[in-house]
Amino acid sequence: MRSWQGAGIWYGADYNPEQWPESTWVEDVALMRRAGVNLVSVGIFSWALLEPAPGTFDFGWLDRALDVLHEGQINVDLATATASPPPWLAHRYPETLPRRADGAVLWPGGRQAYCPSSPVFRERSLALVEAVARRYAEHPAVVMWHVSNELGCHNVHCYCDVSAAAFRRWLGERYGDLDTLNDAWGTAFWSQRYHDWDEINPPRTAPTFANPTQQLDFLRFSSDEQRAQLRAERELLKRLAPQPVTTNFMIGTGIKYLDYHSWASDVDLVANDHYLTAADPEAHVGLALAADHTRGVAGGDPWLLMEHSTSAVNWQPRNVAKTPGQMRRNSLAHVARGADGVLFFQWRASRAGAEKFHSALVPHAGPETKVFREVCRLGADLKAIAEVRGSRVDADVAILVDYEAWWGAELDSHPSVDVTYADQLTALHGALWRAGVTADVVHPSADLSGYKLVLVPTLYLVRDAHADALRAYVEGGGTALVTYFSGIVDENDHIRLGGYPGAFRELLGIRTEEFFPLREGERVTLDDGSTADVWTEWLHPAGAQVLASYADGPLPGVPALTRHAVRTGAAWYVGTRLDHPATDRLVARLLADSGARPPVDAPTGVEVVRRRAGERSWLFAINHTDTDARLAVTGVELLGGGRCDGELVVPAGEVAVVRELSERREIVVGKKELDRVNLTVEGDR
Ligand code: GLA
Repeated sequence: MRSWQGAGIWYGADYNPEQWPESTWVEDVALMRRAGVNLVSVGIFSWALLEPAPGTFDFGWLDRALDVLHEGQINVDLATATASPPPWLAHRYPETLPRRADGAVLWPGGRQAYCPSSPVFRERSLALVEAVARRYAEHPAVVMWHVSNELGCHNVHCYCDVSAAAFRRWLGERYGDLDTLNDAWGTAFWSQRYHDWDEINPPRTAPTFANPTQQLDFLRFSSDEQRAQLRAERELLKRLAPQPVTTNFMIGTGIKYLDYHSWASDVDLVANDHYLTAADPEAHVGLALAADHTRGVAGGDPWLLMEHSTSAVNWQPRNVAKTPGQMRRNSLAHVARGADGVLFFQWRASRAGAEKFHSALVPHAGPETKVFREVCRLGADLKAIAEVRGSRVDADVAILVDYEAWWGAELDSHPSVDVTYADQLTALHGALWRAGVTADVVHPSADLSGYKLVLVPTLYLVRDAHADALRAYVEGGGTALVTYFSGIVDENDHIRLGGYPGAFRELLGIRTEEFFPLREGERVTLDDGSTADVWTEWLHPAGAQVLASYADGPLPGVPALTRHAVRTGAAWYVGTRLDHPATDRLVARLLADSGARPPVDAPTGVEVVRRRAGERSWLFAINHTDTDARLAVTGVELLGGGRCDGELVVPAGEVAVVRELSERREIVVGKKELDRVNLTVEGDR
């Protein structure tokens, strides 16, 4: 068990007592206890109250709030309170304000109005962290530290002069000398050669496309600057306080500019915020992708859902409320996929401010509401499944994701604006979801040896070592699928010559000589009846077997889907954007080819995931459909269902969590299945 893990599943929310009179705090704690809440994040946006003037601190209200929580046995994830500077910072030090690429200043009045490279911000924020840590390191309620809040959410890219100087320093460390930088940035093009470091700026608004490698490096630099704040705060906390340190990542909410794979080593536990896209009727599939990616960032360890919403948010165009049962399904889906805690934004809905229409655990209408009743039910559920804490998720499939590849793939002046990084990631993960198969979403440097199938969507930019690792995986008997616009450039965004998809050409046994992106709305048909859009390419097999070719479009007869047998493994390639049914069929073939399987067979729309700890295992079944589902499961259903013997009924819209008593296991010798036995494991203890 890792030190941050308490007695069960963490349950709670951001708690902002400073927005309420102290008399409300007592009611808050009573309601928290009623709901089963055991952890709240406190002080996230409290800087302006904690330090009303530079160097003058007022901790009185926070002392009292923490004491009230402690008396109620509610644990605290205490914020360092650096998320948003107080108005006095910008007033005294206007140079701390961030600037956009066009030079416009981002003024205070919202939140996070600071330049991430500002030495003044760094100094003042660390002074606050030190004061908070010294005061509360020994407080018995404080069980973990919450650095800042969603670092980089609003201020990730700052183009001011302070940032420009920091960017130059960062480039100096990366390249050492200007010749190396000029080579990497390909500055022989368009008269861009630099002769002095001071000539270099961030990619500010320019007459036309800025240098792509300059853009890529600026994105790397910007992620590193945010990370540097996390590391500086963490280092201080580690010196002054014993509790584990975390910060809330934003994986799966469309925010792409923070390279969380590289940040994971800077936190003691990975925590994530996730919000549904209300307009998406299949938002629970996106939720699963976010959770699988968070687990991948956490290296498979349990993680903490730091924020999601009980119902509507306030920041989407139409903020759709959650239907009865939806919040419970969402929450338990995160737990199924490895979360050991379910927290929300926020405890009590605000009366004032920009987020007053955001849902909370206690709505404006009070506790006699659908939301609070569901909050209490979920609290009881999490207590009932406390034993899953610390277990890990079983996954036969890995999907490779790399933020650098995402940044590179979506730079400007590319063959088609319709090629977006997350598109094939989402399509393939969605097909696996529909097939009931769990995937770990991992960085290309992850150990792939335990997976039956590896999917590689749009890995436009790939380092040699990562391409080599995929080759070794396939040569060792693995099955991989690479999708179009992968392997195209190296880490400097330079084309890998000799034909596409450069880095994977040999592994895939193909060579593409020219891209043929499609017009907006144009569709092509393949000779197996599939349809596709966005992308085609003039592909020549070079050892690979052709599985499907174009029947029409710009390249009739040219291969679209190939499979290359490599030693005992297989490397598949798809050179077009298949429609959903065709993607589902492709994934079904890949599952058959690789032997990857769902934990149990389930109807589409019933999400099944297995968590395991040694010989013990738990099956989560989340029924997103409006029909009752029957699954072949034996065990004890922990959410009130009792024993099930060979059949588990999951009513429409409901969730079941079964401590499994036995598993069908196949004993396989070589390639030949010899016997099937029912191994009973001692799970019911
Ligand atoms: C983010 C922030 C919170 C709050 C919520 C609203 O996750 O961390 O402070 O603004 O969004 O959805």
